[in-house]
Order: sequence, then structure tokens, then C-alpha cells
Amino acid sequence: MTSPTPPLRVLALCLGNICRSPLAEALLRRELEAAGVRATVDSAGTGDWHVGRPADPRSAEVARTHGLVLNGRARQLTAQDFTDFDVIVAMDAQNLHDARQLAPVDARASLHLMREWDAQAPGADVPDPYYGGSDSDGLGGFETVYAMLERSAQAFAAQRKRAD
Ligand code: 4NP
Repeated sequence: MTSPTPPLRVLALCLGNICRSPLAEALLRRELEAAGVRATVDSAGTGDWHVGRPADPRSAEVARTHGLVLNGRARQLTAQDFTDFDVIVAMDAQNLHDARQLAPVDARASLHLMREWDAQAPGADVPDPYYGGSDSDGLGGFETVYAMLERSAQAFAAQRKRAD
């Protein structure tokens, strides 16, 4: 008898862990579950300014309008995360670079950019909406970020489902 595959462990990563990665975390969890892929999903930031704080109210609001609840608290990426997770998904190239600096030599996690899975702009950055985007959508770019994250999370989940 073969033992069941352990759940896939996914970590969404941004700078502050209050705007983009909490949304990415909630969307990855929703889409992986919808695809029937067993997974645990968490998020973290490369910076420590907001550790312990809830998600930015603009992210929480855009999540709420799409039926998602963000109830995590910000935490900072640690070297241990490279052992505890299978996949770390960075929101932009700077996050990816910073994560690589912290990665131990025996890291288990593979590092990716979230928009590797966005067919509209593969490998592009998820822009940081913290200071308000120029592509204002009423929520200062947060709705645009949500759409990028949703497309990416759906394609990521579909790929993992095929790999299962
Ligand atoms: P996030 O956004 O990386 O998507 O959580 C930011 C949050 C806070 C700051 C920058 C980006 N900050 O400079 O405090």
C-alpha cells in the first residue's frame, strides 16, 4: 500500500507581508483547494517593519469584496522556511533576490515568481501597491493586483493538479 502524497507546502512572499502576499496566500489556498490539490499555504515578507500586524486594510477590503478573509499576521521570512516549504512564490524580482540571499545551501524549497503562471505577462512583477498605484482602480491598484494574483493562482493550481 502506498502512503498518500504529503500536502504541498506553499509560501507566498512579498516585502511587508501586509499587501500582496496575504492576498496571494488566500488565493493560492482557494484555488489549490478548488483544484483538489492538498496543500498548506502561508505567507511572509522579506522585511520586518510590519511583523505582527494584520493585512493592510486595502488588501483586506479587496479580499472581502471577493469573498476572502485575510486573518493572518505579518511575519518575516526565515532560513527555516526553505526547509519547511516546498515552493516559495515571490511577488517581484527584488523579493526573489532577497530570498536567494537568505537561502541555505541545503534549501528544499524551490523559488519562483508568482507571475511565472500569469499568461498575460509571464514572469512580470506583481507591482507593490503600498504607496498607491498609478493604475488607480478605486482601491489604488489593489484590484489590479488581485486580478494578477487570481490568474496566477489559478494557473499554478491547474499545473499542480496535472502534476499530482
Ligand atoms: P507588500 O507591500 O510587500 O505587498 O506587503 C508593502 C508593505 C509595506 C511596505 C512596502 C511594501 N513598507 O515600505 O512599509
